[in-house]
Amino acid sequence: MKVLVTGGAGFIGSHLVDALLARGDEVTVLDCFDDAYDPRLKERNLHGSAATVVRADIRDLDAVLPLMQAADGVVHLAARAGVRESLADPLLYESVNVRGTAVVLEAARQSAETRGRAVPVVFASSSSVYGARGPGRFTEDSGADSPVSPYAATKRCGELLAHAAWAGAAVPVTCLRFFTVYGPRQRPAMAIARFFELAQNGDPLPIFGDGSAIRDFTFVSDAVSAVLASLDQPDGFRVLNIGSDAPVRLLDLVAAIGEISGQPLKLAHLPVQNGDVPRTHADISRARAALGWAPQISLQEGLRRYFAWSQAGAR
Ligand SMILES: NC(=O)c1ccc[n+]([C@@H]2O[C@H](COP(=O)([O-])OP(=O)(O)OC[C@H]3O[C@@H](n4cnc5c(N)ncnc54)[C@H](O)[C@@H]3O)[C@@H](O)[C@H]2O)c1
Repeated sequence: MKVLVTGGAGFIGSHLVDALLARGDEVTVLDCFDDAYDPRLKERNLHGSAATVVRADIRDLDAVLPLMQAADGVVHLAARAGVRESLADPLLYESVNVRGTAVVLEAARQSAETRGRAVPVVFASSSSVYGARGPGRFTEDSGADSPVSPYAATKRCGELLAHAAWAGAAVPVTCLRFFTVYGPRQRPAMAIARFFELAQNGDPLPIFGDGSAIRDFTFVSDAVSAVLASLDQPDGFRVLNIGSDAPVRLLDLVAAIGEISGQPLKLAHLPVQNGDVPRTHADISRARAALGWAPQISLQEGLRRYFAWSQAGAR
């Protein structure tokens, strides 16, 4: 299978590229190596990879269309990620995440028209679309129309554009709502990467609020296996939660990081940040049924793998 991966140089994308190549797929990466974090890390992510790498912007239809025409499927991961950063630059998020997704979907529509067969799309959505919720698991049908950050709003817009592409032009799209993905190569600003780094340096770990916030974490290989299953079994338009269904309190996460890193931790309590939500908890029954998918890596195991990777000096 020939697969186009937008954002394939990034954290999740580079793991996906490795997995696709390992099973014998032909992979083209479209990535602009943006400066959201050090682009050299993205170059390192793909170092020695057999994927074809095209440096281009997803907002450029002329660049995306020929790549789409050569593909049997596309995984659309390219985006500006990060909730807090989106509050500082909502227009950039709107441009890359909304316009960029519209261009990818339009390229899929035009390719299907030219070739007479659909190009299945897998779109990286986010648990942030659920906004601030009370207790209980988040189900895909429970509404997602009260985002609390520009990032979340752009991901919801992407889902709506995807629905329109399916309804109006029969572009099959699976929207995967990823719940905080972590693992080796993760974006340096993400909590687990930062916490391990600060712990190693003996610096205080920032805890926003009282530490009772709850997060459902997904190890990157579990996110990748969900993408592969979605690509292999397209089925019209669908939205699927991808998480662990085993959420943890922030303070328990920090304690586990202290234990694994073997460092005594200092905590710095700070006010809750705008855009943060108090809890996330994935109901993953729909993904289990639709894809035959299930998460395999516990948080303890995932944190151990992350720590081993960071100790090996890979970053
Ligand atoms: N990591 C998570 O916890 C998480 C959770 C939910 C959803 N997601 C989504 O998954 C996707 C991948 O996230 P990630 O954590 O790997 O982020 P990442 O920043 O590591 O990867 C994104 C990639 O997209 C590229 N990119 C950005 N703008 C581009 C543009 N205009 N044209 C071409 N390429 C562009 C970047 O250079 C980067 O390589 C994103 O869509 C993100 O919103 C991630």
